[in-house]
Amino acid sequence: MEIGFINGEFVDISSPVIPIQERGHQFGDGVYEVVRVYRRVPFLLAEHMDRLERSAHEIKLTVPYSKTELKQIIEEGIQRSDLKEAEVYVQVTRGIAARNHLFPDALPSFTMTVRPIRDVPTNYYKKGVAVYTMEDIRWKYCFIKSLNLLPNILAKQTAIDQGGYEAILVNNDLVMEGSSTNVFVIKDDIVYTTPTVKGILAGITRQKVIDLAKQLNYEVIEDFYSVAFLKAADEVFITSTVVELLPVHSIDNDRIQGVIPGPVMSALSEAYRTTVIQVCKNESVSSQSNE
Ligand code: PDD
Repeated sequence: MEIGFINGEFVDISSPVIPIQERGHQFGDGVYEVVRVYRRVPFLLAEHMDRLERSAHEIKLTVPYSKTELKQIIEEGIQRSDLKEAEVYVQVTRGIAARNHLFPDALPSFTMTVRPIRDVPTNYYKKGVAVYTMEDIRWKYCFIKSLNLLPNILAKQTAIDQGGYEAILVNNDLVMEGSSTNVFVIKDDIVYTTPTVKGILAGITRQKVIDLAKQLNYEVIEDFYSVAFLKAADEVFITSTVVELLPVHSIDNDRIQGVIPGPVMSALSEAYRTTVIQVCKNESVSSQSNE
């Protein structure tokens, strides 16, 4: 079952509960997070809640719940949904007030949804996906996970309309990230990814993949690279909480040479899967022993 939560109450996900004066609706004045649930366990929850707090802090907003309360709300949502595999979205906004650009004297709003995971066709993991490069027209603070995603959705839709899966956003010929993913390149067994500057989101999956690559003794270079370097890569893959690691087979219709998925990505995917299984097994054991 799909679950909704707004300002302290669990609600029917399809009920029209957002007030007309909600600032998330009027201005996109808020931040959000996405957590993937495996076997009823929210994966890397602490990292996601830390980033939520950081994003909120950057827009001068305070998350209305402590980390312990957030964990309880999310876990209760998962329990009520009875879903083993799920996606949890949470949003924090500047609250409900008459429309005015100035910060209102209002309590922040907190909403959450717990829904089944979106199915990414298994074929995509075997054969890869097409991506299209596009100019990054977003603001300069994309390290904040803001609710304002208009440039991202326009870019993603443009990629989809060309028969692709993801848009790769490019700034002065440098690859920044995908519209909802981070990007990795493999060249001569070295792992390259864009550094966590203010212009990209510091992906939680990105960091996990970097940690795993280092554990597997790959050299990791966090630096900028050009579209030409991307197109000349041995392997390219995109990462996010939702897609995990997803191979790319072509960029602007130029095919990646070599097998898909490539050997380095395959090793990293396997390590990622092992981590998910270990972490979620341990957490579910420790929460059972706490009951
Ligand atoms: N998107 N970059 C952008 C712009 C993103 O929106 C996302 C995540 C990522 C990857 O971050 P992470 O590994 O922490 O999920 C990078 C989520 C999945 C979304 O908006 O649905």
